[in-house]
Amino acid sequence: MPLDISVVQAAKEPAAVAVPVGTTGTVPRALGLSRAALTAAGFDGKPGQTLVIPAAAGATTIAVGVGDPSELTAATLRTAAAAAVRAAGSRASLATTLADLPGVDAETAACAVAEGALLAAYRFQQYKSTPKPDGLASLAMVTGAARRAAAERGAQRGVALGSAGCLARDLANTPAADLPARRIAERAAAIAAERGLEIEVFNRDQLIAMGCGGIVGVNHGSAEPPRVVKLTYRPSASKPKGHLALVGKGVMFDSGGLSLKPNDGMIWMKLDMSGAAAVLAAMSVLGSLHCPVTVTGWLMCTDNMPSGSAFKLGDVLRLRNGKTAEIHNTDAEGRLVLADGLALAAEQAPDAIVDIATLTGACMVALGKGMAGVMGSSDPLIDQIRVASAAADESVWQLPLEPTYRKLLDSYIADLKNVGGPHAGAILGGLFLREFVGDVPWAHLDIAGPMQADADDGWICRGATGYGARLLAELACAFTPPRRRSKR
Ligand code: BES
Ligand code: MN
Ligand code: ZN
Repeated sequence: MPLDISVVQAAKEPAAVAVPVGTTGTVPRALGLSRAALTAAGFDGKPGQTLVIPAAAGATTIAVGVGDPSELTAATLRTAAAAAVRAAGSRASLATTLADLPGVDAETAACAVAEGALLAAYRFQQYKSTPKPDGLASLAMVTGAARRAAAERGAQRGVALGSAGCLARDLANTPAADLPARRIAERAAAIAAERGLEIEVFNRDQLIAMGCGGIVGVNHGSAEPPRVVKLTYRPSASKPKGHLALVGKGVMFDSGGLSLKPNDGMIWMKLDMSGAAAVLAAMSVLGSLHCPVTVTGWLMCTDNMPSGSAFKLGDVLRLRNGKTAEIHNTDAEGRLVLADGLALAAEQAPDAIVDIATLTGACMVALGKGMAGVMGSSDPLIDQIRVASAAADESVWQLPLEPTYRKLLDSYIADLKNVGGPHAGAILGGLFLREFVGDVPWAHLDIAGPMQADADDGWICRGATGYGARLLAELACAFTPPRRRSKR
């Protein structure tokens, strides 16, 4: 059951009330406890900390930490809302004044609270024969009259963004057997019809005719045919403020191909389509967000399987822009399917291209699971990604596209090799992709690290994180065409 989120002046008999408490300042009287009593109970108001105060009758009160009140941020509110939802447990309704605090404007605050609540309430239970009973059903954000209208706008934004994150999680958490490329294309078609996106789906024969030798080559070993899904969002109002292209890696399952992964490296590879999931999910809410920019999304969907027909080491694939790649490792398949997608995207001459991909284990080694790597040809575009990243609280860290490393990808017989040795794996992935974007300002997000979480933590839930869906939606909504000047 989806969580119902509303903005109210006063909540009607909620089962629980979450009261924000800072690390300093006065403790709200609604709590009925002094600072000393809170401290004695081990609660000091750190962001996301909670203390459930049992009540003999009526609403349960939950103290929820918001840190230093003079440094309140949207990210803190998102985390606090998530913590409140988790602390509310199986209680059906929760009211909170988290969106009514000074320091963060009402729209931003309500947006963050709604996102945090939706993302923390997320559950993936389709495969449980006895699913846990429904938890929280409604969240009421209590705000003063002056903040009401802005809070309502923010709540709507937050619901859209939060549901995008949840959709990306649902898609990624679905086992590969139940979500082959054909199925995600059908899901995309249903979403497109519902949300007013244009859609075009390319099948294997079409992809061969189009010269997409990357995705067709990677698909060779699979019993499932590939699909490329092209989605277009057009703003309804007046002239679009620009054109952004998004390209998502949709490897529905990455066994590694003939360069087979070991079991432990393969276990999460149903999530190797998390980039495509993020693009589809972000695009599904652009209308609700009144995004003023034209956005084209490319979902590059196939699995990567070993078999008698699989592509082989030493094979040379011809990619959509005519460049050729010699295969030295069939497990470096993401860059091959993205190469076709980037070239297709670039042909439309958009103002910028952003790709998102679970591309390299090396990026996870470098940056850990808490952030994506970002690389690209346009610093102004990367700056816009940083802004979107901060708004979504989905962290990124820039890696250099070191030009002197490009020669590591040289091949004797083809234009490129698909791998370049043991070092700087994330950067080599980026340098490979760069060959396919022409002179369109471009950035690449390597989300191998943050695609998956081992445990619930704030608004993050164990399993697929949905990373990137909110970041991309924020990016699209605030996008302005960067100047066309290539820099590394
Ligand atoms: N999908 C993997 C990358 C990955 C690894 C994502 C772990 C998430 C967690 C990608 O296709 C891959 O296998 N990359 C290789 C590249 C190498 C062969 C150059 C890798 O990282 O080992
Ligand atoms: Mn791989
Ligand atoms: Zn992969």
